[in-house]
Amino acid sequence: METYEFVLTETPAPGVGVIRLNRPAALNALNQALMRDLMAALLAFEADPAIGCILLTGSDKAFAAGADIKEMAATPYVAMFMQASLIDGFDFSRIHKPIIAVVSGFALGGGCEIAMMCDMIVASETAIFGQPEINLGILPGGGGTQRLTRAVGKALAMEIMLADRRLTAAEALHYGLVNRVFAVEVYFAEAVKLAQKIAGLSQVAVRLTKEAIQKAEELPLHEGLEFEKRNFYLAFGTDDKAEGMAAFIEKRKPAWKHS
Ligand code: CAA
Repeated sequence: METYEFVLTETPAPGVGVIRLNRPAALNALNQALMRDLMAALLAFEADPAIGCILLTGSDKAFAAGADIKEMAATPYVAMFMQASLIDGFDFSRIHKPIIAVVSGFALGGGCEIAMMCDMIVASETAIFGQPEINLGILPGGGGTQRLTRAVGKALAMEIMLADRRLTAAEALHYGLVNRVFAVEVYFAEAVKLAQKIAGLSQVAVRLTKEAIQKAEELPLHEGLEFEKRNFYLAFGTDDKAEGMAAFIEKRKPAWKHS
């Protein structure tokens, strides 16, 4: 397995790839080098046929405290403007496998935004979500104004981003930002269990399903339904559809071919 400067990777269970942000002295603040490491690690798991689900986590104290303010302070306008994205090539849409953010402690600014780029969020009871960029005289630049508003609605999103309201894990669960909340002692193990469950399924069916759900956020309903129908028909051409249905009828576990 490749090694990186600012992220650690491991496979704690079959089919589960873990990427751990690892810049503890700066509460995992997202500098350019860390973001490049993160994207490289994601692409490596995406390319690994043995991996069916990816977990993205930090430490118990901090998922990530945001973009690196010290690095941004020295970045002029034109340099920001000329980048295709926050970091060239940094694009979660390149990852077709499910990604679960596993969040404990601070998920602020870009940290909250990266968690929201993931497909699900599992949190510890200590997690704190916020977009405090307004205090720095800027605004979220990693999708916060769009994804958070879609997740929690306009009124709360305005309060979070204009008045630096921070959400506890319990509030984030209540407002639909996170999937599950667990005690800090067990949140990571619980996230691994969830990932293992997904990794034990047909990777083709998982990919087709993830794609179709993502379209629900982007397309008008009739176009989304059309997209779903096409993916549904496509599933009928897979070996895994034949295997999944045969296994049900024969009362046995399916042996997925991921084809
Ligand atoms: N960038 C750079 N360094 C950071 C950082 C950040 N976002 N967040 C924390 N650090 C550093 C601190 O400077 C400190 O380093 P030193 O020991 O060298 O001084 C170290 O991490 C520990 O931080 P604190 O001493 O501040 O720890 P704390 O427990 O007292 O406070 C905190 C924790 C509330 C998260 C506080 O660190 C904080 O407010 N951080 C900034 C949060 C923020 O504003 N994030 C948004 C960034 S902008 C952004 O993300 C733009 C975007 O949308 C892409």
